[in-house]
Amino acid sequence: MSAVISINSGSSDSIESKVADFISRMGLDEKIGQMSQLQGGGGWIPDDLAESIRAGRVGSILNEVNVEVLNEMQRICVEESRLGIPLLIGRDVIHGFKTIFPIPLGQAASWDPETIEAGARVSASEAASVGINWTFAPMIDVTRDPRWGRIAESLGEDPYLCGVLGAAMVKGFQTDDLGEPGSIVACAKHFAGYGAAEGGRDYNTANIPENEMRNVHLRPFKAAAEAGVGSFMSAFCDLNGVPATGNTWLMDDLLRKEWGYEGVVVSDWESVVEMSVHGFTHDDEEAAYEAVMAGIDMEMASSSYLDHLEGLVAQDKIKLAQIDTMVARILTLKFELGLFEKPYTDQKEHAAVLNKSNLKIAKEAAVKSCVLLKNENNTLPLAQSDLATVALIGPLADDDYEQLGTWIFDGESQHSVTCKQAVEELIGRTVEINYVKGLETTRSNNHEEFGAAVSAAEKSDAVIMVVGEESFMSGEAHSRANIDLPGHQAELIEAVASSGKPLILVIMAGRPLTIGNVLDKADAVLYAWHPGTMGGPAIADLLFGLESPSGKLPVTFPLAVGQVPIFYAHKNTGRPATDHTCVNMDEVPARAPQTSLGMTSFHLDAGYKPLFPFGFGLSYGNFKYVKITTSHSSIGLGDTIDIHADVINTGAREAEEVVQLYVRDLVGDVTRPVKELKGFRRISLKPGERERLCFTLHTDDLAFYNRKMELVTEPGKFHVWIGGSSDAELWADFEIHD
Ligand code: BGC
Repeated sequence: MSAVISINSGSSDSIESKVADFISRMGLDEKIGQMSQLQGGGGWIPDDLAESIRAGRVGSILNEVNVEVLNEMQRICVEESRLGIPLLIGRDVIHGFKTIFPIPLGQAASWDPETIEAGARVSASEAASVGINWTFAPMIDVTRDPRWGRIAESLGEDPYLCGVLGAAMVKGFQTDDLGEPGSIVACAKHFAGYGAAEGGRDYNTANIPENEMRNVHLRPFKAAAEAGVGSFMSAFCDLNGVPATGNTWLMDDLLRKEWGYEGVVVSDWESVVEMSVHGFTHDDEEAAYEAVMAGIDMEMASSSYLDHLEGLVAQDKIKLAQIDTMVARILTLKFELGLFEKPYTDQKEHAAVLNKSNLKIAKEAAVKSCVLLKNENNTLPLAQSDLATVALIGPLADDDYEQLGTWIFDGESQHSVTCKQAVEELIGRTVEINYVKGLETTRSNNHEEFGAAVSAAEKSDAVIMVVGEESFMSGEAHSRANIDLPGHQAELIEAVASSGKPLILVIMAGRPLTIGNVLDKADAVLYAWHPGTMGGPAIADLLFGLESPSGKLPVTFPLAVGQVPIFYAHKNTGRPATDHTCVNMDEVPARAPQTSLGMTSFHLDAGYKPLFPFGFGLSYGNFKYVKITTSHSSIGLGDTIDIHADVINTGAREAEEVVQLYVRDLVGDVTRPVKELKGFRRISLKPGERERLCFTLHTDDLAFYNRKMELVTEPGKFHVWIGGSSDAELWADFEIHD
């Protein structure tokens, strides 16, 4: 497997020989310099940093975005350092640089690789215009815990979906040729297991059996490696007792030897020296040793490599050949980026940031990311012609900052278009808009404006409330134990609902929130995540029917936080619950005997079902699934099978639907999930239109890791479903014979 998709200049042989030539001329201190990534000064070059660059003691800088400063750093490297090796310039361009896209979890709700690739393309070109050549994205940690703040940065709970969408992001950032202007290196992070932090508390320990690592958490990373991602980042977490950054099984046995990955592996921020805090190493020297032995090519932010590697080589604990291999990977990436030929950035050669086309792509992404969770009596879309007045209420209705979400180092809220601005622009000429904020922030509990909110609702024909959680409530180190709507937003919704007017909730959040307590109060609910710069216009177009919602949940919505982890691809257990066995404790008589309750797997106070299942999302069309058939009743190993079903739009308007294919392998050497996503496709159907869809599965697509950690497809019986969510009911079966 090659590190990146293609090489921009000359053959890979010539890169190899150029790299070998450099290595033969480099001193050990210069090699260690290449393995060190240091912080930029934030708009200037501190003298000690300039001196380190000049001395060849830095391979990469992160968190500097001033193009003149970056050009000057490259100039010092190229003209004043002995060997003239340019710098990798890293930055967290997670869901946009200046044009901010929906948070990654929101983008994942589009289930649309093309949309995601286009977003990453825009982000890369904007970032490259100031000299950034490396982003720390995509984050493809499979996560099944909405308490974890970093779920916002993830692509959701499913390894297949994360893999497909993560690969699309890699393609968008890197293109097919890293040397092309506007292409930047992507980074698959955080390798691995970080999404399984105990208790959903960031940085916490992850304990994941190897079989589950392979069948779930590693799969998207394998997909990213196969898509040619140029770098990997090690996770902060302690994985089964060994921090990922020093985990030789993960980094060396698996990533390098088993997968043959040849790209650069960078540590996370100070995760090398944090191994001592974990209690895995005694001091920075030992931490540097363990990280190198695991195969971490570059240390981010801390300086244990700079401080200790020379000594470790002198003591012969680390071989020079090991250092050379690591440096070669870093230099190879620099050649692939074309940095030696073109170390400087000329902004004039790049399109302007925030240009019309970029904003249009961001708006399309936001449209596709919104998920319609409820739409009683076709409350939505609102018909402008039927309305004289609309109330617009809520702390997030006109907040240009909070709609951007987490990880927007370079985003600027003044470019955001809010819901209020967009609704005014769209309908303001004919419809009176009664705006009341209601609560100062999503956390406020002051009821002062409740009266004004209720009277605005009473004098309006319909009410749009924009509520949710502020952007700081998700993201790194921002986990929550209670994932209800914060503050007194539920009370505000209840008060406004008493007006009896059609009530539409728009919810902006970085995670699935437990919204069961407000669902009944609303006639319609549109989940917008944190939708980015163009969130307002996207939401306005959806509310007023210029667009039909088409997003689908990339993650299960729990009914109660105590159900977490709750996800669709769970195991069956020996005692699965059903509607007949599941009992609610309020119905249980006093002095009930211990064994009176069905004896199956459920919570007495929350049942066994989520609030909304993975893959769910309504639209203004109405999609029915019928006539599922398989091309064969039995196939042999190595064969393919076609699964067909008809999808009909019985609704009154043209709409897009994400058709999903799920499979269950009934018996396995290790127990298999009750359903696994194996394919999906976005289609558009006119009213009354019917399309027969075909999904083709190869028996390799049904492979999993068995008890011996071998990837196998086992003969046996399979169920297959086609539908509009993981609750799909239309099913068929087939067999794989020996
Ligand atoms: C995060 C990474 C990020 C890095 C650089 C760390 O704290 O975990 O995801 O790329 O910082 O900013």
